[in-house]
Amino acid sequence: MPVQVIVGAQWGDEGKGKVTDYLTARSDLVVRAQGGNNAGHTVVVGTETYKLHLLPSGILHPDKRCVITDGVAINPTVLVGEIESLRNRGLPCDNLKISPRCHLILPYHIALDEGQEGSALTRIGTTKRGNGPVFADKMSRLGIRLAHLQEPETLRQLLQENLFVKNPVLRECFGHPGFEVEPLAEELLTLGAFLKPFVADTAATVQESLRAGERILVEGAQGVLLDINFDMYPYVTSSHPGASGATLGTGIPVNAIGTITGVAKAYTTRVGVGPFPTELDTELGDRVRERGAEYGTTTGRPRRVGWLDLVLLRYAARTNGFTELCITKVDVLDQVDQLQVCVGYQRGGVDITEFPHTAKGWEQIQPVYEAMPGWLRDTGDCEVESSLPPDLVRYLRRIEEFVGVPVRYVSCGSNRTAMVVRP
Ligand code: IMP
Repeated sequence: MPVQVIVGAQWGDEGKGKVTDYLTARSDLVVRAQGGNNAGHTVVVGTETYKLHLLPSGILHPDKRCVITDGVAINPTVLVGEIESLRNRGLPCDNLKISPRCHLILPYHIALDEGQEGSALTRIGTTKRGNGPVFADKMSRLGIRLAHLQEPETLRQLLQENLFVKNPVLRECFGHPGFEVEPLAEELLTLGAFLKPFVADTAATVQESLRAGERILVEGAQGVLLDINFDMYPYVTSSHPGASGATLGTGIPVNAIGTITGVAKAYTTRVGVGPFPTELDTELGDRVRERGAEYGTTTGRPRRVGWLDLVLLRYAARTNGFTELCITKVDVLDQVDQLQVCVGYQRGGVDITEFPHTAKGWEQIQPVYEAMPGWLRDTGDCEVESSLPPDLVRYLRRIEEFVGVPVRYVSCGSNRTAMVVRP
């Protein structure tokens, strides 16, 4: 089957950008399916580093077609900025199409997100990119979509409706002056004129591509453990980063998906507030953070670092139907002599088999670890399976055995070429 989906198997930041870039070379159409510019994908091509938030990583391959589909919320200012920045670096972005059904992240969404994050009562550690408020509006049927930028009077009316509801909250709860319709409308219409040539019915593009038997790659954003339905609510994002997000709003039928690639780091990171059972709040954690450059692509926040949690990875695999795994940033652990992987949870010294259903419940569990020897060898130059250190291969086999999914890709460095494909 022609569709391959890339899914972040942890809390995001698994290195999906690099994997997408790598797999794009084998695809015809690259689809960004959900989330917003809360995502940040870093792709290193030779000496050039690209940091993308909205554009599919496939955009770095001018010979491939890329689409941003209905499930993505777009901040038009950020999107225009990303397109212009790539154009300045010699990438024309002519290969991009964007769905008119994408909802728009507007300045009042960001102000509301910032307002909520500014109060200890409502803070959950978001990226402050307006993601929660825009998807709340989408569900409340108050949203403004990309298509509305071509209808000035509808746009003004929708802004008026929205500001009628939002301005009092901004002023009274957060001491923000609020927004006015006209300046906002003018700015949006200018951005709309820039974006017009990119707007197309991406669901139709996807259908045509499927009918033509082309290879479609759906790139992930965020990770499974940030899904809005996950038990760690409210420390989640406002979308569906799992495999189902690849079908909701893209026009890709579920049964067209053939390969679901779960991407996980060889350890774990999390950015923002919320439970993290295997967190390493130690000097070793600091070393891993530095070596792995674990600072948010979007916000620059230091990421929290921890051991690989196989229990959560197995959950991600089972609920998303991973057919293969890609383990990234293996080289970050090259100098660690003794590794731990989490193979169970306990509460009060008693094994538990069911996840807690509240964030507080998660804070009360303890991980059960299994020790594994580190490989203590530089893996940065590994290009084939036979060059991987034996202790690393044992580590990968333990992952496969516990999770029940084969590790097909091993990423040993940030560059495009640093990828071992296992048989
Ligand atoms: P929001 O998506 O900005 O509303 O943030 C909600 C939670 O998701 C916070 O814990 C963020 O740190 C996290 N989050 C959102 N996007 C990403 C991402 O791309 N990588 C890692 N964490 C993310």
